[in-house]
Amino acid sequence: MCGIVGYIGHRDAFDILVKGLHRLEYRGYDSSGVALVNGADELHVYKAKGKVSDLEHAAEGKDCSGTVGIAHTRWATHGEPSVRNAHPHVSNSGNLVIVHNGIIENFALLRDQLKQRGFHFNSDTDTEVLVNLIEYAQQTHHCNLAEAVRHALRKCIGAYAIAVLDQRDPRTLVAARKGSPMVIGIGENDSEFFIASDATPIAEYTKNVVYVDDEQIAVCHPGQPLDITDLRNQHVDVSVKTIDMDLDMLDKGGFPHYMLKEIFDQPNCLRDCMRGRLFAEDDMGGNDAYDPSTGYADPNVHNDVVLSAVRNNRDRLLSASRFIIVACGTSWHAGLIGKQLIEHYCKIPVEVDYASEFRYRDPVIYPTDVVIAISQSGETADTLAAIKLAKEKGACIFGIVNAVGSSIARETDTGIYIHVGPEIGVASTKAFTGQLTCLILLALALGHTKGTIDEKEYVDMIHELNAIPAKIEEVLKHNEDIRLLARTYTYATNFLYLGRGWNYPVALEGALKLKEISYIHAEGYPAAEMKHGPIALVDNMMPCLFVATHHKGYEKIISNMQEVKARGGRIIAVVSANDDEVSKIADAVIEVPDTLAPLAPLLSVIPLQMLAYHIAVEKGLNVDMPRNLAKSVTVE
Ligand code: F6R
Repeated sequence: MCGIVGYIGHRDAFDILVKGLHRLEYRGYDSSGVALVNGADELHVYKAKGKVSDLEHAAEGKDCSGTVGIAHTRWATHGEPSVRNAHPHVSNSGNLVIVHNGIIENFALLRDQLKQRGFHFNSDTDTEVLVNLIEYAQQTHHCNLAEAVRHALRKCIGAYAIAVLDQRDPRTLVAARKGSPMVIGIGENDSEFFIASDATPIAEYTKNVVYVDDEQIAVCHPGQPLDITDLRNQHVDVSVKTIDMDLDMLDKGGFPHYMLKEIFDQPNCLRDCMRGRLFAEDDMGGNDAYDPSTGYADPNVHNDVVLSAVRNNRDRLLSASRFIIVACGTSWHAGLIGKQLIEHYCKIPVEVDYASEFRYRDPVIYPTDVVIAISQSGETADTLAAIKLAKEKGACIFGIVNAVGSSIARETDTGIYIHVGPEIGVASTKAFTGQLTCLILLALALGHTKGTIDEKEYVDMIHELNAIPAKIEEVLKHNEDIRLLARTYTYATNFLYLGRGWNYPVALEGALKLKEISYIHAEGYPAAEMKHGPIALVDNMMPCLFVATHHKGYEKIISNMQEVKARGGRIIAVVSANDDEVSKIADAVIEVPDTLAPLAPLLSVIPLQMLAYHIAVEKGLNVDMPRNLAKSVTVE
């Protein structure tokens, strides 16, 4: 968790750092801080508890000049959220200053050793230990900052992405990482450098970036090329990548919250996700396959799913004896649907595991297994550790990741990017539907290559998937109705979400959305399981949301609704268009267009996202930054 930003160059650092922190606020927002060295080589550090806007107030009227600085937005791991524990942390001499994302696991031991050598500590953080360890290395080895950082990091166990500055040498900024993400942007002719936890604070200044790898130390010195070495002081080739990030995607685009914007972005996001992968012949016999060399549609492609990851790894993927999906949270819910898709279309057994359980369970993994990691951020610590473990045991790692160049993406053997653009709202929305779309494309491409999918079903799925973005647009038209409906349910302290088959993971996802942003306790269950326990909770204060689209299990779910009704429960139902059965039982009904059963989750989840959003807004809560959560969970 936590976001770090650093700048060194010729511009005013403060503006760049604060703007960068706003972009990274999704990574944590319980306190923030900034350190700058001004033209007289004086170090100024400003910190505030709360959001980045509180930091801006705290720095108002103070000396914020300087063309070098580092900044941090925090999600507390060691020590309560407070100014005292906020980063940047300064070393005992007052010369060194650091920002850190990660956890130094042996910090208590290191702190005791430093105390014995006369160091004192003002905070409860592991980071303050690290900056003093670097200072101690400088004192004992009489070396420059990069060298001292190397000495110190060799003693640390844990994860870090750090940026360190020495006020006595403000032309050098040192960064290093292990386990926590870090990108460095390079300005024209190496005149300036931008350090950040992801590319969003960098994108508007330069497209040239370097993804720093584990155990690497980068020295940024304007006018000189970026210098990267490893912990053994071996030089590393600097591989500069080009990022292509649409800056409009980083702003709210007129919506009151990122979450609502991202809900409404879904039709276009899914079009982006399918572009160049899904080719559906239209009624005129044309298709969307675009040949960049001619600029015309490619006449040789008709109704197909083309994934280079499948084409290039065909034998490895198809010879898999088993797929194992590892993920956390919302991405795990997508994985549950992925299991049904791959088993249905490819006839390959699939297991779905919480990455956090998988990694610690001593799982049986065969070299013939394919492990699919699903992650929006590409930085979730448990998912990353799970695939590292599977890789060690010889499995092939396939990534379904949104953040391009992220740690998980780089650890995989192959995979597909979700391509829905940066997701800023802490509650995942467009990444979920993007993950589902990728899983559908993967199952179709694999099944077709393997010959386990019926040709007609394949073509029908392609046409229907192609129509999904327009159908989501239809669902989004219910936004106002759902807003009004939400008002009725702000009283609730508990909610039950129920679904069957394809819609069971949607029920789990709906419950998670409600929990995380409205703080209402919600349980998702397979509808048939209700009778095995949760029905005891049902009374006239308990809203039950049924996902009851017109697919297999529909009649059974109507019986489940009757059972709730008989006990006085309040029923909200998401149903297929023109359903006239459910409205006879339910208190409120939200219609979604009809579609094929495996695609139903792409439509039925949208009203649940909107309902959770509006209930939270009605309760006056901060939907984009719910309490205790962070967007990217880079700690275990
Ligand atoms: C919920 C949510 C989380 C994430 C989970 C995994 O709205 O966003 O449950 O899905 O932390 O994150 P990623 O997908 O980044 O690995």
